[in-house]
Amino acid sequence: MYVIKVPLGVRSYTISIGGDLLPRLGHECKRLYFGPRCAVIADRNVAAHYGREAVQSLEASGFEPVLVTVPAGETAKSLKVVATCYDQLAAHRLERKSFVVALGGGVVGDLAGFVAATYLRGIDFVQIPTTLLAQVDSSVGGKVGVNIKAGKNLVGAFWQPRFVLCDLGTLETLPVREYRAGLAEIIKYGIIHDVELFRRLEQVMPKLLQRDPDTLSSVVARCCQIKAGVVGQDETESGLRAILNFGHTLGHAIEATCGYGKFLHGEAIAIGQVFAARLSAELLGFPQRDVERVATVFEKAGLPTRIKLNPGQREKMFEAMRHDKKVSEGVIKFVLVNKIGQVSFGQAVPLDLVEKVLTEPPARRSDEKSPQPGN
Ligand SMILES: NC(=O)c1ccc[n+]([C@@H]2O[C@H](COP(=O)([O-])OP(=O)(O)OC[C@H]3O[C@@H](n4cnc5c(N)ncnc54)[C@H](O)[C@@H]3O)[C@@H](O)[C@H]2O)c1
Ligand SMILES: [Zn+2]
Repeated sequence: MYVIKVPLGVRSYTISIGGDLLPRLGHECKRLYFGPRCAVIADRNVAAHYGREAVQSLEASGFEPVLVTVPAGETAKSLKVVATCYDQLAAHRLERKSFVVALGGGVVGDLAGFVAATYLRGIDFVQIPTTLLAQVDSSVGGKVGVNIKAGKNLVGAFWQPRFVLCDLGTLETLPVREYRAGLAEIIKYGIIHDVELFRRLEQVMPKLLQRDPDTLSSVVARCCQIKAGVVGQDETESGLRAILNFGHTLGHAIEATCGYGKFLHGEAIAIGQVFAARLSAELLGFPQRDVERVATVFEKAGLPTRIKLNPGQREKMFEAMRHDKKVSEGVIKFVLVNKIGQVSFGQAVPLDLVEKVLTEPPARRSDEKSPQPGN
């Protein structure tokens, strides 16, 4: 088992990463002297697989849990669902010393964390992330929140969990497309911070795709360690934390333009990261062969690296980017890569260049024999 510390002063906590951690939930909660009543919030899929095990572990340690189930999918991150959670917490008489267990992917982590941050002006919560994306990203760092009509994640708080248990065994039931989407965030950590991790991913991708426990645990632990380090230096995103958004400017525009659901977040940011690498080649002299390495590692993970847009969609996407809060006076701020393992945030990129790189055909890849017409 790996244990990573997130260093945030009095709000510090640990992330445990290993194979069979869910049964330890009750024991870990007991060590923190939480009050007896608690709520396990899970979506219907995750509740069906792991709800009972979580509840039993808590009961075995003397807690009185209620299982609150919410619909699966992004639509559950809404104020309406938050209100239904509050009602169930109140009906179960959760009080100041009570706590919430977020059992699920990033949707449930963000939602349940927000419920915990606001119910009775804030009660404790713990995270049991069950998607790869949640294990390496959303469960670390304390950003919680929900979506409103005007956009994603526009209502929220910084509310740190008391601990995180990454039970890698829960990934066994995760659909393969969701699993691959998580790999996009893992590759991101290599590009933004750790060339050794990147090199390793170039080698071990087949093993990772097989969910090999040893490879998975060491890679997940390294990613959590990187995110913990970044968050420890910039908890509330006033600077450095922005590097975690590598690939996300275009990624978010793709999600917004194509409608949430067509591309998973991980798929959209895979395309966004390859795009940011190409922009970096234009602006920072990032070597073309490294652009290709970046594209190849995403391909090995079974992720898309480009998006084909019809003219209407392209216009809609530029429109989405022009309205992005990071745009002013015809330039948009990107995280760009200097070399693999090192990025710079707040890089001003003219919208014209964004448009050019987005529409030009891909450079001929060194491993291709002849250019593909129309590609
Ligand atoms: N707070 C942050 O810092 C942060 C960072 C990144 C992303 N996010 C948020 O995370 C969300 C996306 O999270 P996600 O990709 O985990 O999606 P998700 O929570 O919707 O989970 C994806 C799907 O997998 C199912 N599932 C989850 N675990 C499973 C398991 N072990 N076995 C079988 N099925 C399982 C879920 O029911 C769901 O259908 C977005 O809302 C995004 O905004 C937050
Ligand atoms: Zn992301």
